[in-house]
This record gives sequence, C-alpha cells and structure tokens, in this order.
Amino acid sequence: MSIKILGTGSYLPAHFIINKDLEKIVETSDEWIRTRTGIEKRHIVREKSTADMATEAAKKALEMAKISVEDIDLIITATLSGDYHTPSTACLVQAKLGAKNAVCFDLNAACSGFVFSMNTAIAYMQIGMAKTALIIGAETLSKLVDWTDRTSCILFGDGAGAAILSCDLAYLEVLNSNFQFSEANRLDNSAGKSKNYSVVLHSDGTRAEALTCEEELISNPFVKANRKPNKIWMDGQAIFKFAVKNVPVCINEVLEKADIPREEIKYFILHQANERMIQSISRKLKVSIQRFPMNLAKCGNTSSASIPILLDELNRKGMLERGDKIVLSGFGGGLTWGAVYLEW
Ligand code: ACO
Repeated sequence: MSIKILGTGSYLPAHFIINKDLEKIVETSDEWIRTRTGIEKRHIVREKSTADMATEAAKKALEMAKISVEDIDLIITATLSGDYHTPSTACLVQAKLGAKNAVCFDLNAACSGFVFSMNTAIAYMQIGMAKTALIIGAETLSKLVDWTDRTSCILFGDGAGAAILSCDLAYLEVLNSNFQFSEANRLDNSAGKSKNYSVVLHSDGTRAEALTCEEELISNPFVKANRKPNKIWMDGQAIFKFAVKNVPVCINEVLEKADIPREEIKYFILHQANERMIQSISRKLKVSIQRFPMNLAKCGNTSSASIPILLDELNRKGMLERGDKIVLSGFGGGLTWGAVYLEW
C-alpha cells in the first residue's frame, strides 16, 4: 500500500500577542523569550472554537485535495483542548463539513497528536477500513495556559492544521464483511504500489508528571473538591532533555524501518516547541538546520496543530514536490513521541 497527502490546510486566528504584551502580565522580556525559545508572537483565538478552527483548516485541505466531502470515510482530530468532553471535535467538524460518510473521533497524544493520528489513519487504511482520511490537529491552548506562570505562558498559541490522506488500496468494506478479507480483495491489495511510508511511536507514562493539565477534579453531592484543577504545568528542562535525547533516536528508527538514508530526506518537520530544541536535534542527527523548517517565531507552540500548520505552509509555498521524502516528528505530554517517514 502507498499513501498520499492530497491536500493540506491551516487556520490561525487573526488576533496575536507579541512578547512585549507578555511583559505586561508576567516578569519576562522580549529578549529572554526570543533567545531561549525563538518565539516572537503567538495567535490567540477570540471568537472561534477549537472545532471552528479545525473546520476552517479542513475546508482549505479539502479545496486543495479536490475531492468530494462525501469521499471522506475517517476524521481524526488530534487535540487536548476540544470544546466539549462530548461530542468530539471530529464529530463537530463532520457536521460543519457535511462529511456524512465519515467515522469520527478525537485522539489525545498532546504534541505528538498529529503523528499518532496519522498512524491511526494508516492502520485503518491497512486493514481496509478507510481509504480517505481527514487528519486534523487543532488547539485552543490559551484557555488552558496559566497566564501567571512565566515559564509556560510565553510558549503556547492557538491554531489548527489539516491534511487529507489517501491510500491506493481498494476499499475492502471490512465492517460489512466481519473482517473476512475476500480472496479478490487480497489480490487487489497486492496490486497496490510499494510502501512509501513508515511510522514509529513511543509512550512513557512513568514520566507523565513532567507535563500536565488537570481535568476537573471529582466533585459531586457526595465528594467535595478542596482545590481547583491546575492549568498547563510542565518541568521545562525535563521536557527539553527528553525531546533532545529521544527524538533523534526515533527519527533514526523510522528511517531504518523505511531503509532510507538521512541524506535523502528533504525536510524534517518537527513539532514547533523551541528553536534551541530543534537546533540541538539537528546537531545530534548531523543534519543541516536548513532542512528543519520552522515557523515557531510567529505561531509559538500550538501542540498537535504545529506540524500540520507548518506542513501546510511549506506546501502552499511550493516547497514540496511529488517524490520528496520528508519526516514528521512530534513529542510532548504523556510522555509521547513518534515519527512518520513519508514520500510526498
Ligand atoms: N522570562 C524570564 N525568565 C524566565 C522565564 C521567562 N519567561 N521563564 C523562566 N525564567 C527564568 C527561570 O526562573 C530561571 O531563573 P533562575 O536561574 O533565577 O532560577 C531562568 O530563567 C532559567 O530557567 P530555565 O528553566 O533553566 O530556562 P530554559 O533555558 O530551560 O528555558 C523553557 C525554559 C523555555 C521552558 C525550556 O526549558 C523549554 O522550552 N522546555 C521545553 C518546553 C516545551 O516545549 N514544552 C511543551 C512540550 S509540548 C506539549 O506536549 C504541550
């Protein structure tokens, strides 16, 4: 089976705040933020919801893909900041788009969410449960940020990015056949083009405390909560060290799995958390920083949305051509990390 990204889209709220704005609310400086993180501004949503931003990004991806909305048979929204506990953001997007044939759900793997979602879509495709998938990363982190904590509030921003993923397998209708693959479909599968992707994912729940954002505490007529839930909290240095140590190993793993040398990769599209982190990863991989595109200066860290927003930016600038080899890599809360190798 081979997979293809048919279209990408993104949405950034019109309103943004620059580092100088943050100087007014916490003890920090533009100089500190720029030199320690590379971030200059971040977008903050005012009127729209996470689902609205996700839908705007999805519409642009659909327009580029030039497919009917009814062709989408899977929508996964990677998010840790949806509008509701239920319904899922993906279901809200489905309704707004009219994608009536899609199976929809959200996936929370923090900043690795887009890469984890892409892997899930590929797994659906491999067993014939989907042929065309809409994968979205969408976050309204501004509502979860502790705006009194200078070590974290300077980092995060809102936004959404989307990609339409398609495979060359015949649709197997596994659901209708009780997972009995017919001989005809097996033959059809083997006729598919050779594999042009590979995926590696990791999780380590023992280090969950390094980055947390607490849900509502248990409180009901029988149990009283005696404190408020926490906003985003992280041990910045621990996350920094974890990413710089594990991401290069993970990228090497995914390339080994695909049997592709690093030199053939045009771009390493990493989660946009911190410029110094990306520089350090590029040094560890012995790959020029020029091949690590960045847009964190103007978007900040948008968690699961950062990779698809950057992917869309590169795509719309004409920087990606069919046949280009790229690696996407996400890392963050959970802890979670992963990489996808893909031939464009
Ligand atoms: N302005 C001014 N000073 C600050 C600020 C600030 N905004 N924040 C921290 N400082 C101070 C600290 O208090 C400390 O002061 P001290 O030396 O007097 O104690 C000093 O600056 C150095 O602090 P460090 O924590 O050592 O700074 P560091 O260089 O590690 O940068 C940062 C901190 C930017 C948070 C960095 O560790 C980082 O980017 N970590 C990764 C965070 C991340 O990406 N998290 C998200 C993961 S994705 C997800 O899943 C959501």
